[in-house]
Amino acid sequence: MRVDRFLSNLPRFNRQQVRLLLVQGRVQVDGQPARDGHHPVSEFSQVTVDSEVLQAARPPRYFMLHKPMGCVSATSDPQHPTVLDLLDEPDKQRLHIAGRLDFNTSGLLLITDDGQWSRRLTQPGSKLPKVYHVETEQPIGAHYAETFANGIYFAFEDLTTLPAQLTLLGSHSAHLTLVEGRYHQVKRMFGLFQNKVVRLHRERIGEIVLDPGLAPGQYRPLTAEEIQPI
Ligand code: URA
Repeated sequence: MRVDRFLSNLPRFNRQQVRLLLVQGRVQVDGQPARDGHHPVSEFSQVTVDSEVLQAARPPRYFMLHKPMGCVSATSDPQHPTVLDLLDEPDKQRLHIAGRLDFNTSGLLLITDDGQWSRRLTQPGSKLPKVYHVETEQPIGAHYAETFANGIYFAFEDLTTLPAQLTLLGSHSAHLTLVEGRYHQVKRMFGLFQNKVVRLHRERIGEIVLDPGLAPGQYRPLTAEEIQPI
């Protein structure tokens, strides 16, 4: 909504008064003077007149979701259910996903409306470790770990993956820790050995661990401690 409309919708100001307040520079939106009546205002904006708060800014929201398999990490999809369909929250269109997972990958997904926070989380320089539980069709060779630690050349992007750490859990399962998020990265890394990933589940991003109390499809707000360290 435009700021002039927002103000004239309030019972205390008529349009003439609103025009005057704006030209006199007495209106601020999110701490910045708004002299132009077209200035946008959302339900998240703080709006003040002469330092009196007419609408308080809404605090940003942060959620962890246990993404189930068979659901798209997108805000809309013409065919499949999306992760946002699983959230019972107002203004869902404002939320976005910080670090997507493939359709059939399950596990920790972070959803927020704080763009700065999600950028810090996902930007390549953050090198935040992401821990995946991987199950494969063929046995996992002892030599995989060294290859993953050395990095793998991805011709399509013309890059070598950053060192990744593989810890074997069984003959067909392992923990893989990545510090980046290339397209289908885990599947392509195992694909180098013609070993198909049959199940992929993200357990952790940085210090944020998927809450074991969340069944697939369930979510909860992040705690202050979980939001902080990023
Ligand atoms: N790597 C993949 O191949 N898929 C994911 O969903 C995440 C990492």
